[in-house]
Amino acid sequence: MITAREIDPYNEPLFDEWYAVLREGASADSEAAIVTSHEAMAFSLRDPTTVKTRVPVGAFDGERIVGSMLFEYRLQDNLDTVEVEIDVPPAERRRGVGTALWAWATARAEELGRTIFQTEFGAADESAPGMVFATGLGFKVEHVEDHFVVPLPYDEARLEALRKTAGELDGYRLTSWAGICPPEYLQMYADLRTAMDRDVPTGGMTHELVPWTVERLQINQDRMFKNYLALVTMAQTMDGAPAGYTLMFLPRESAEFAQQDDTLVLRDHRGHNLGTHLKLANLDQLAKHRSTQVWLHTWTSLTNAPMQKVNERFGFRPVERYYELELTAG
Ligand SMILES: CC(C)(COP(=O)(O)OP(=O)(O)OC[C@H]1O[C@@H](n2cnc3c(N)ncnc32)[C@H](O)[C@@H]1OP(=O)(O)O)[C@@H](O)C(=O)NCCC(=O)NCCS
Repeated sequence: MITAREIDPYNEPLFDEWYAVLREGASADSEAAIVTSHEAMAFSLRDPTTVKTRVPVGAFDGERIVGSMLFEYRLQDNLDTVEVEIDVPPAERRRGVGTALWAWATARAEELGRTIFQTEFGAADESAPGMVFATGLGFKVEHVEDHFVVPLPYDEARLEALRKTAGELDGYRLTSWAGICPPEYLQMYADLRTAMDRDVPTGGMTHELVPWTVERLQINQDRMFKNYLALVTMAQTMDGAPAGYTLMFLPRESAEFAQQDDTLVLRDHRGHNLGTHLKLANLDQLAKHRSTQVWLHTWTSLTNAPMQKVNERFGFRPVERYYELELTAG
C-alpha cells in the first residue's frame, strides 16, 4: 500500500532519498529539465522564511520512497493558493503513487483553507505523462512558454556579429553587477522588478502582484546569493531614469546550466535595441564568471513575439514547452 507523509528535511538519509526520487521523476520525461540542486534544496527546506512555507512530502511503499512532492504556499500574499510539484520515477508509475501524493495535497490545502492549486513543468508536448495526469485531476493549462537553450561558452563569432548589427548605444548607459545590487541602485532595481512582474505575460494564472520593496529585494538577494551568482545589467537614460534590466543566474555548485531570467525594457524605451544591448553586456559578464556551465537556458511566452525574436537572434534553440496549470477546488 502507498502512503504519503511529510518528511523531515533534517533527517539526512531520508532527505537524500527523497531528493534522489524527486530528481529522477522530474528529469525522466524532459531533455532539458532543470532541477534545483541538492544543496540549494536542502538549504531552502532547512532554513524557512516568513515569505513561503515549503513542505517536502514522500510517498512510501513500506520504508521505501517511491514518489516525491514539494508542497508550497506563500504566507503574506496569494493566500488562497498552493503550489505542488509531484515527481514519480518511471519504474514506480501507474500504480497510484501520484494519486496518493495528490490526496495528501488536497487534504492539507483544505486544512489551510486554500482552494487554488498551481503546478508547472516542462514537457515535449501535451501527451506527456505529467499533462495527462494533471488534466485528469481537473487542472487546466493557463500559460505556455517555449524553453530554449544555447551552448556555452557562447559562440564568439555570433556575439561579434550581434555587436556589429546592434551598433552604438545612443542615449542610454548600462551598469552591470555580479551578486548583490550596489546600494545606490536598490530602489531603482526594486521598481524595475515590480514593472517586470506587471508586464510579463502569465496567461490565465491567478497571481496577486506584490510590489518589490528594497527590504524584500535585499532578503531575496541574500538568500539567493548562497546558491546562485546573479548577473545583472541595468539600463538608464543619460539623466539617470530607469529604462530596463536583464538578469541571469549561475548556480554556484558545479552545474551544467546557467539561467537567463528576466529581461525588461520599459514601454517608453522600447524600439531602441535596448534588449539586445542589455543581453550583450550581460553575456560579457557571463564569460567572466562562467565555470562549469555548458548550457544557457531561457523561457519565453509563446505570445511574446519581440522576445521570441531576440532569442532567435541570440541563437537559442527551442527544446521543449513549459506549462503552467491551475485548478480551483470546489
Ligand atoms: C505525472 C506523474 C507524477 C504521475 O505519477 P503516477 O504515480 O504514475 O500517477 P498515478 O499512478 O497515480 O496515475 C493516476 C492517473 O493519471 C493518469 N496517468 C498518469 N500517467 C499517465 C500516462 N503516462 N498515460 C496515460 N495516463 C496517465 C491515469 O489516468 C492514471 O490512472 P490509471 O493508472 O488508473 O489509469 C509522473 O508521471 C511523473 O512524475 N511525471 C514527471 C513529473 C511531472 O510531470 N509532474 C507533473 C505533475 S505536478
